[in-house]
Order: sequence, then C-alpha cells, then structure tokens
Amino acid sequence: MTVNDERKLRIEDEAGKRYMLDPSACINIFNLYKVYKRDKIEVVALRGLTLHVKRGEILMVVGPSGCGKTTLLNLIGGLDKPTAGKIFIDNEDITDLNYDALTVYRRKKIGFVFQFMNLVRSLNAYENVELPLISLGAPAVERKRRVDELLDVVGLRERRLHYPTELSGGEQQRIAIATALANSPSIILADEPTGELDSTNAHEVMSVFKALISKYPDITVIIVTHDLSLKRYADRLVRMRDGFIDEALQLQYAKEEGTTLVGEDAGRQQSAGRAGDLEDVLPQYPSISDIKYCPKCNDPRIQVSILKAVNVDKPHPLFQIRDAVIICNECHNVEKVKVKIFHQ
Ligand SMILES: Nc1ncnc2c1ncn2[C@@H]1O[C@H](COP(=O)(O)OP(=O)(O)OP(=O)(O)O)[C@@H](O)[C@H]1O
Ligand SMILES: [Mg+2]
Repeated sequence: MTVNDERKLRIEDEAGKRYMLDPSACINIFNLYKVYKRDKIEVVALRGLTLHVKRGEILMVVGPSGCGKTTLLNLIGGLDKPTAGKIFIDNEDITDLNYDALTVYRRKKIGFVFQFMNLVRSLNAYENVELPLISLGAPAVERKRRVDELLDVVGLRERRLHYPTELSGGEQQRIAIATALANSPSIILADEPTGELDSTNAHEVMSVFKALISKYPDITVIIVTHDLSLKRYADRLVRMRDGFIDEALQLQYAKEEGTTLVGEDAGRQQSAGRAGDLEDVLPQYPSISDIKYCPKCNDPRIQVSILKAVNVDKPHPLFQIRDAVIICNECHNVEKVKVKIFHQ
C-alpha cells in the first residue's frame, strides 16, 4: 500500500511495517543488515544502516577498512541481498526481487566503477563502452551515438581502438567510467575508483567523472574512498563505522557555498588552528606508535606490518600515510588500517 502526503511517501510492506520515504531521494535505505555466514562463522558486515541519498546527489562514503562500504554498494547495486532491512530505489523495494529480477534492475539502473578497472581485456576501448548497450539490446545506430558521445566527454575518442593494456591506469579508469554510464543508469556506484592511481591521475579521473555526471544531473552517485582529498568532488560526505553510518561524524557540504563542518569534525578542525591547512587534506589517522592493541579484542599481542604508501593530494611535510596490517596473535583478527609514518 502506498500513501502520499506533502513531503513523505508512506509505503507499507506485506507484514504491515511502514516506511516513510523521502520522494526526493533516489535511494532510501532502512535498518539494513548483512550477515555473511560460512560454516559456523558469522560476520556482521552491516548492522542497522539507514541512509537517504537525494536524486542527483554525489555522496562520498569513507570509513575504516572492513566497516562495510563495499557490502553496502553491493546491496544497493543488487549484486547481493541483505539479511534484513529495506532498500527502495526510485521508491521501488528491491529487497524482495529474485536474482533474475536483480540482474535486470542492475542492467537498467546501475553503473559500477571498481578500484581495479573493470574492463574486458580482449575488447578495445570502444567495444568496452559498447558492451552494456549490447546487453540492453540497443540498436547499432544508437550504440554508436552513445559510445562516441561518452568517449568525447572522457577525452579518449582518438584512443577508441586501443586495448586496456595499451592505456595508462588513469585512461583505463576514464574508459571504465564511460562504460558505467553507457546504459544511462540512474545510480553510479564507485568503489575506490582512484585507489590504484597516483594523486595527479586520481584528480584527473575525478574531474572527468564530475564533468560527465554534471552532463546528466539526475544521476545519483556514491563514491567510496579512503582519500579524503577527493571530498571536493562530492556534495555530501558520510562516515561509516562498524556497519552503520556514524551520524556524529557526518560532514555536511553545502552544494555551492563551500564546506560547512558540523559535529565533532568542526571542533577538531578549529582546534587544529593554523595547522588546519595541511591537516585538513589528510585523514586523522593514528601514528604507527599509537597502535598498541588489537582493534577487535584489545589484546596487546599484535604484529603490525607496514604496506604500500597511500596517495594523498598534498604530501605532509612531517609524515606520510601508509597502509598497515594488524595481526592479532590472540584472536587472529587481521585488520588493514591507515597510519601516519613520520619522515626520518
Ligand atoms: N563474502 C564475504 N564473506 C564473509 N565475510 C565477508 C564477505 N564480504 C565481506 N565480508 C566481511 O564483511 C566486513 C565488511 O566488508 P567490506 O568489504 O564491506 O568492507 P569495506 O569497508 O569495503 O573494507 P575496505 O575498505 O577494506 O574495502 C568485513 O569484516 C569483511 O571481512
Ligand atoms: Mg571495500
């Protein structure tokens, strides 16, 4: 049953449970749970996540490794089904769709951009962008018009006959973005789209991405990233923690009036004082010496290994950001975190 009032859309499910949808939101998510089970082990990846994303909004999602960001994108994109909770896309409940219906939903409504460019290696740039249109059964003339248009916008029309291995990482990702937009999706889901790129390429890809999105203002975009310097491309940023949106840490961005910080981050920003300039572009990661206990069981018997350097827009004069893995000798939890390493 559906009831409209002035600002909310009331939808009742089969069990009589009511959901108040924001009709201006393309994505309305209520109390979402995802529990992965293998043998006797259960991992609760999402625990009661509620989120509304407006039509045409560019939302950036940040949060520590393992907090459920990819899981959330997979559920919105219909790649997987939630354990409990509801996802309404354009006011339609997708949580009850079977896997065949989800495939149709994905083809029509969703464009994915992944960290590792999701291009087919045996197809050239043109054919990669054309592929989703072939799956949708679009006529040849329409396919050519659309592919040419997208290759123009990402600035790679002259490279259309090149295969992925003949393109740089940034160029491949620009083709991947064109591919994600080919089927005119209403939602783009990008999971660490610049995770494999250096800072210059990351910003170039994001500029192209933003230019492309602004040509189609109704597209709703969710970008998961660890790189806070990309926040300038977003309308709003939310943080996830332990499987839900951490409301206390939300930063609200006014679309045209620059950045407005609210909540805890505003206090942190003010207290940072003049150092704010550089601190602002770098996430507030712990230094390596701050990691003394297992994040899961709090036991001090841990091993911390430093991995690769993380790209940031402005390098900090005092430290760099690195990926590190914490291995707990007590509970065997393995966790990837980002840390500051002070220069020698
Ligand atoms: N298929 C799966 N089976 C079992 N557990 C899973 C599966 N996929 C994810 N998980 C677990 O669910 C939790 C959330 O994983 P998810 O990949 O969503 O995190 P994330 O926030 O995207 O992390 P990262 O920033 O490292 O990509 C993690 O504890 C992960 O180990
Ligand atoms: Mg992930």
